[in-house]
Amino acid sequence: MPHSDLLATAQRIALEAGALALRRRAEGVEVAASKSSSVDIVTEADRETEKLIRDALASARPNDGFFGEESGAERGTSGLTWIVDPIDGTVNFLYGIPHYAVSIAVVEGEPDPLTWSALAGAVVNPASGETFTATAGGGAFLNGERIHVAPPVDLSEALVATGFAYASEERSRQGRVIAGLLPQVRDIRRMGTASLDLCFVACGRTNAYFERTLSPWDHAAGALVAIEAGATVKGLGDRAPSRDFILAAEPKLTVRLERELVRLGI
Ligand code: IPD
Ligand code: CA
Repeated sequence: MPHSDLLATAQRIALEAGALALRRRAEGVEVAASKSSSVDIVTEADRETEKLIRDALASARPNDGFFGEESGAERGTSGLTWIVDPIDGTVNFLYGIPHYAVSIAVVEGEPDPLTWSALAGAVVNPASGETFTATAGGGAFLNGERIHVAPPVDLSEALVATGFAYASEERSRQGRVIAGLLPQVRDIRRMGTASLDLCFVACGRTNAYFERTLSPWDHAAGALVAIEAGATVKGLGDRAPSRDFILAAEPKLTVRLERELVRLGI
């Protein structure tokens, strides 16, 4: 199936799911349960939105696999798997901060970010009305307009986004790295939605983004958008992005920032 058809499916379902999330947000949101730690939460809307996406994909693409944050994985027979975060930025969603997203990507190969190849992805922020899309080799778009990373800048002029883990020991370490990086860059942003952090690099709203302990659904679609917009998206050294580490930036800045993060003990 052409990548553009896969993207059309991802985008249609992400927009539908985004509309549901926006309605639930307007009605009021409560924490349904906590997950890996007391600050890692899920709402009923996360579960309901994932169910909408899973049902829609099962009917549109019955032979493909599924891997979602809230309802787990199911292998398919086609070699393609849909990687889904129904609401990325759940804490923003809970507090009514209009910066959260539905993230849907379709990948080929094992559903493992170290080896998969992403074919198409859509990241929809229903609260801002922004839809980021990309297909492998086909470019990246914001609401249908082609997007590109910002031009190269020195580290001292870079606006760098990051995010923090849910585990408190990991957060202490991340705090120390940020303390070392902050005096060397234009500024730091912690916006709370990894998929949108990647899309913001893609459209030049930030110069770089890095994070540790991300899950595959947090970066599957956003990483493709960033790559297609001209960013380098990588893990440490010559590894692909994974739970270990992800860094996305204009290619020259990637080298400079990775060197500094390694020096700071990322
Ligand atoms: C989280 C967000 C956040 C990032 C965390 C993710 P969730 O996803 O993307 O920005 O810092 O690492 O887990 O839990 O809101 O889907
Ligand atoms: Ca989520």
